[in-house]
Amino acid sequence: MRTPIIAGNWKMNKNVSEALELVKELKAIERNKKVETVLCVPFTNLWQVKSEIEGTDIKLGAQNMHWEESGAYTGEVSPLMLKEIGVDYVILGHSERRQYFNEIDETVNKKVKTALEKGIYPIICVGETLEEREVNKEKEVVERQVLKALEGIDTSDIEKIVIAYEPIWAIGTGRTASSSEANDMIKFIRETVEGKFGKVSNDMRIQYGGSVKPNNVSEIMAESDIDGALVGGASLKAEDFAKLINY
Ligand code: PGA
Repeated sequence: MRTPIIAGNWKMNKNVSEALELVKELKAIERNKKVETVLCVPFTNLWQVKSEIEGTDIKLGAQNMHWEESGAYTGEVSPLMLKEIGVDYVILGHSERRQYFNEIDETVNKKVKTALEKGIYPIICVGETLEEREVNKEKEVVERQVLKALEGIDTSDIEKIVIAYEPIWAIGTGRTASSSEANDMIKFIRETVEGKFGKVSNDMRIQYGGSVKPNNVSEIMAESDIDGALVGGASLKAEDFAKLINY
């Protein structure tokens, strides 16, 4: 049985006091304990959010990291720095990083390897653009992203990895993939992983992301292969985010 995982991706939102307010509100709401709840917050909030979630089952995530432990990489944050704070998860290869910050499959792969080595669970984002979907290339693109990200990974590590399928045309647009379209791609991702690593693919959790909201979450989570959601906009309000966790 795969434990459902709902992760909030705050992106570049919330200063420290706003972050703490949100977490306090979230803690006050009754949440489904069968769902793993993750908050992927800006670097500047990690430390304080970590102390605020102490003693709860809420997990902490970062939104990116470098693959080296330390060095001359101005502006970057190392996996050891995240580890010191007690970060559990790290989002890698988000489409906004691919689009605006030159993230490519090769760097995603390096980061995935380092994250696993340091004991941080990667949430690897994959997904096609609208143009790619319009010419029926979505599976080809996603297959490439998945296989590249997982290149050289040990089979025994596959179950520690979360993949988030996020069609780029559905992110922040209010337009979601239909739940069956999402499920279809997520099945395909699992088959792709199985083709390379075998049946451990059944232990790997695959989320859907892209305009997941309180009004569509139950339909999405009812699909056979969707194990959770990576959520941007709707994770910025405690009440909405709790509704997603309580789908
Ligand atoms: P959204 O973002 O829920 O605002 O569409 C999802 C994401 O980018 O992870």
